[in-house]
Amino acid sequence: MTDNAKLIVDGKERSFGIVQGTKGERAIDLAGLREGGGLLTLDEGLGNTASCLSRITYINGEKGVLLYRGYPIEELAGKSSFVETAYLLIHGELPTRSELSVFSNRLNDSSLIHEDMRHFFVAFPKYAHPMGILATMVASLSTFYPVPDHLDPEAEEQFMANLISQVRTIAAFSYKKSIGEPTVYPSIKLRYVENFLNMMFSSPVKDYRQDPDIVRAVELFLILHADHEQNCSTSTVRLVGSSMANIYSVISAGISALWGPRHGGANQEVIQMLEHILATGTDPKTFIDRAKSRNARERLMGFGHRVYKSFDPRARILKQAYHQLLKKLKTADPLFEIAMQIEELALKDAYFIERNLYPNVDFYSGLILKAVGIPADMFTVLFAIGRVPGWLAHWREMVHAKEFRIARPRQIYIGPSERHYEPINSRGLKKCP
Ligand code: SDX
Repeated sequence: MTDNAKLIVDGKERSFGIVQGTKGERAIDLAGLREGGGLLTLDEGLGNTASCLSRITYINGEKGVLLYRGYPIEELAGKSSFVETAYLLIHGELPTRSELSVFSNRLNDSSLIHEDMRHFFVAFPKYAHPMGILATMVASLSTFYPVPDHLDPEAEEQFMANLISQVRTIAAFSYKKSIGEPTVYPSIKLRYVENFLNMMFSSPVKDYRQDPDIVRAVELFLILHADHEQNCSTSTVRLVGSSMANIYSVISAGISALWGPRHGGANQEVIQMLEHILATGTDPKTFIDRAKSRNARERLMGFGHRVYKSFDPRARILKQAYHQLLKKLKTADPLFEIAMQIEELALKDAYFIERNLYPNVDFYSGLILKAVGIPADMFTVLFAIGRVPGWLAHWREMVHAKEFRIARPRQIYIGPSERHYEPINSRGLKKCP
């Protein structure tokens, strides 16, 4: 394979190096392209653009492979915990027992938010979407916990722990706000996921009994959502972080990007799509045919992916876990039947086959959260809780990189040529030919 690429424009030949990654993916290193000849690259949606070099997560979209720091997602999903996976993503290695204990204690010590922040919850309207609350509250953490411009290693660890832990607390508080119940504080006696479930579902008049199957399902959900290389929200975190904005603002920006229905908001859309099909008695085949028409508002939510052109490995794991959970909870869900019908029909449909559209992580994730009692408008919030360690890992990798510069893409201007100001009286008058 060649190690450089030649570009011939206007008869002038230029050579650019080719960068090769650990798993063989290659990129043309276009540094200096514009300076040397005034040319830019155009790649709307950035599907053909590598924005950085990273050691954190590897995805092979054709083969459905996902590695966190080299470990297959299937192994971490089966053997690790969310806190251990968070440590791995951020620090690059699985923790020793003592490292894990220090990290867990740091998370526990950071799990409260400033008591004055509780007043914000009073001000939010009852119907406020918890993603709007989360993005707002995380950004406002910087007012209660000011972040110095330069963080020493200890401070960096502390602020990252704060975010992993406080995001979970804010999420639970926003749920309690939405149901008009008093907030439940984090407990030193409970591990990360149990603490979250306790803050969500216990109350002064009702103890919450931790069901190990439910705890494991939520743990699995968070592990599977912990990172996914340069997706929209992680790229947002890198872009905002490149201006050296404080870490709370950076993560708040990631939360806002994740909220979109094309991204993390899809898990809530999938449930709404399945409930619509059930409530209206729409034949799944009819729904799929509608989702194929270009002008359809409804796309087949939970299907398709910019990178996976085969089954998203996370969808496979979630589907199996959901099936097992239903059996353990001795419950059934008509939405699961519909989901499996949709999946079976779509996987045989030429439109989806030709476009390599397969179930992605969001197709089954909402079903698993619904089964454990999480309300639909909290699904993307849980996605955000899961993704915080990935966002922090990318932020940390970027700010410590040798080439840490502000990200500032260019554009190709296609607007009007230069023209001159017109007094208001002469505007809009038809120009005589
Ligand atoms: C996540 O990037 C990540 O890693 C994200 C994520 C992560 O962990 O961070 O994996 C999490 O966001 C998963 C994706 C969740 N979103 C959805 O499920 C929403 C539904 N899916 C689509 O909107 C779409 O598939 C995207 C947004 C996920 C990907 O969009 P692309 O890569 O820009 O593809 P596209 O829109 O250019 O579609 C290509 C073709 C088009 O048809 P044609 O123009 O060729 O005729 O496929 C069609 C699209 O209309 N298409 C779909 C479809 N997805 C794509 N048609 C019907 N239903 C769909 N779901």
